[in-house]
Amino acid sequence: NVPLDTDLMEHLRGARRPVVLTGAGMSAESGVPTFREAQSGLWARFDPVELATPEAFERHPQRVLDWYAWRREQVAKARPHAGHQALARWEAACAALVIVTQNVDGLHQRAGSRNVVELHGRIDRDRCHHCGERAETPARVCAQCGGPLRPDVVWFGEMLPEPALRRALGAVSEADLVLSVGTSTLVQPAASLPAEALAAGVPVVEINPEPTPLKGRTLYRLRGKAAEWLPRLVAIACD
Ligand code: NAD
Ligand code: APR
Repeated sequence: NVPLDTDLMEHLRGARRPVVLTGAGMSAESGVPTFREAQSGLWARFDPVELATPEAFERHPQRVLDWYAWRREQVAKARPHAGHQALARWEAACAALVIVTQNVDGLHQRAGSRNVVELHGRIDRDRCHHCGERAETPARVCAQCGGPLRPDVVWFGEMLPEPALRRALGAVSEADLVLSVGTSTLVQPAASLPAEALAAGVPVVEINPEPTPLKGRTLYRLRGKAAEWLPRLVAIACD
């Protein structure tokens, strides 16, 4: 066990408004593949331009819907791990805790977390590609306007849902501690959230087996996995 800095332990114990930012690496130990990891990443095996853009959906909708049906099967088989469960325990002990996730798999909520901001939508929901109306699957066309339905996730080139982005920016601006877990910190605007906290001198704890572009005076880098580190950090925060 790597010994933790005493000031990091103080930040954990003293946190009253923690914010936890999570990316695809948070779901890796639940069996959901990440996007940019060298071998296993989805974008190493599939072309995001052909599958995760509005243009791709307009050009060949069935190929995009089939790929998301495959991803939905993976997500349906996934179960929250000890890291998701630790965050739900932390929220129970510290009601102001907010999770801001780029993930679309709903695993935080399945572990019991309630304050979850979903920046990139939810893969288990559909929405109309024309009017944005949400639809319960397995409807095929929009009940409001007859438009084509597509997964309610944010594709490359699309804007993030404004209310979610606003809530995320608000939470980070109020935070007294930020954890950044399992994200390559490459995709905007999510990647600017931990940088905002660092610029404000708020301590940021990064949990990732690999290096990321994140840097700053108040950054603590914990090399390793979400399911290993989070239970340990939450035990200190809640003891
Ligand atoms: P992009 O550069 O292609 O286009 C979106 C740009 O607009 C980004 O630079 C982003 O910073 C900006 N933007 C988006 N929403 C905004 C908002 N509400 N306010 C201000 N600026 C906003 O971005 P991208 O990296 O290609 O992808 C866009 C989003 O789609 C990313 O967040 C990405 O994570 C997401 N995405 C999701 C999936 C999926 O399968 N869930 C796949 C690909 C991309
Ligand atoms: N624990 C913690 N981190 C992990 C683990 C793990 N067990 N396994 C992998 N990681 C790290 C990887 O080192 C990598 O830095 O998780 C990160 C995953 O990065 P990406 O695959 O780029 O996923 P993410 O940062 O969430 O991508 C952002 O891009 O394609 C879009 O919308 C998609 O939301 C996604 C966005």
